[in-house]
Amino acid sequence: MTAAVTVTDEGAVRIIRMTRPEKKNALTLAMYAEMTRALHDADQSDAIRCAMIAGVPGAFCAGNDITDFLNASAGGLDPRAHEFLHALARRLKPLVAAVNGVAIGVGTTMLFHCDHVVAGTGATLSTPFLKLGLIPEAASTLLAPMRMGYARAFALLVMGRPLTAADAKDAGIVNTVVDGAEVDATALKAAQEIAALPPKTLAVARGLMRGHVEDVTKQIDTESMHFRELLQSDEARAAFAAFLARRK
Ligand code: COA
Repeated sequence: MTAAVTVTDEGAVRIIRMTRPEKKNALTLAMYAEMTRALHDADQSDAIRCAMIAGVPGAFCAGNDITDFLNASAGGLDPRAHEFLHALARRLKPLVAAVNGVAIGVGTTMLFHCDHVVAGTGATLSTPFLKLGLIPEAASTLLAPMRMGYARAFALLVMGRPLTAADAKDAGIVNTVVDGAEVDATALKAAQEIAALPPKTLAVARGLMRGHVEDVTKQIDTESMHFRELLQSDEARAAFAAFLARRK
């Protein structure tokens, strides 16, 4: 386990927590790998009935680490982020998200794969992919229009317009909005409620509701093909460098 992802169990709920507060939970390759492993392990454990993904106060997740994007534009894309997206799409156990603070890029697009989402009143969801010279990923180009309608999905994914927690609830991405201090407890309660359901019946109902996983993973792969190309572009490289230079 790396220091930046902790995995703990609360009864039948596996809690996967991103803990890189100094970088607003920007995801490193090691963090993706830990989270992939935690999702796979949860699927294989009879004792675990539901998983929960959470961040730290003020930061659910600031997206992919932009330093890794810049490295990938020079040296090729490491598969670990892609493997995490496949694990998200293919996993068998329900996943509840506890979103407190910023959810940016994959921090937002992973929510389309969750079964239940609790957000704090101050949470914001945003996907500034195009401003970085990139396209939306994690099958969000398929799932977001289905979930929130094309017009709202375009404003979020392409125009990069952020959503407040209330907007995200209205758009059908978030189930419940609570005070920031209550996010984790509320999400855990929902996860425990799901975990208490009869597991085989839950698996059948969930499988039917999630539709065709193969379509979702195919979309992830197609997006990824474009994403890899765009990472090499001058526009993207300039945007990454501008973000990283901003702090010097
Ligand atoms: N990749 C790498 N580093 C990141 C990061 C990311 N995605 N998001 C935040 N960080 C780093 C910042 O560079 C900063 O590092 P430093 O302290 O060494 O300078 C630290 O996290 C804190 O971020 P900061 O910008 O100072 O905090 P803030 O509260 O003013 O803003 C964010 C927080 C998340 C809104 C802002 O950092 C941001 O916009 N990050 C980029 C998000 C993004 O575009 N993600 C990719 C989506 S595809």
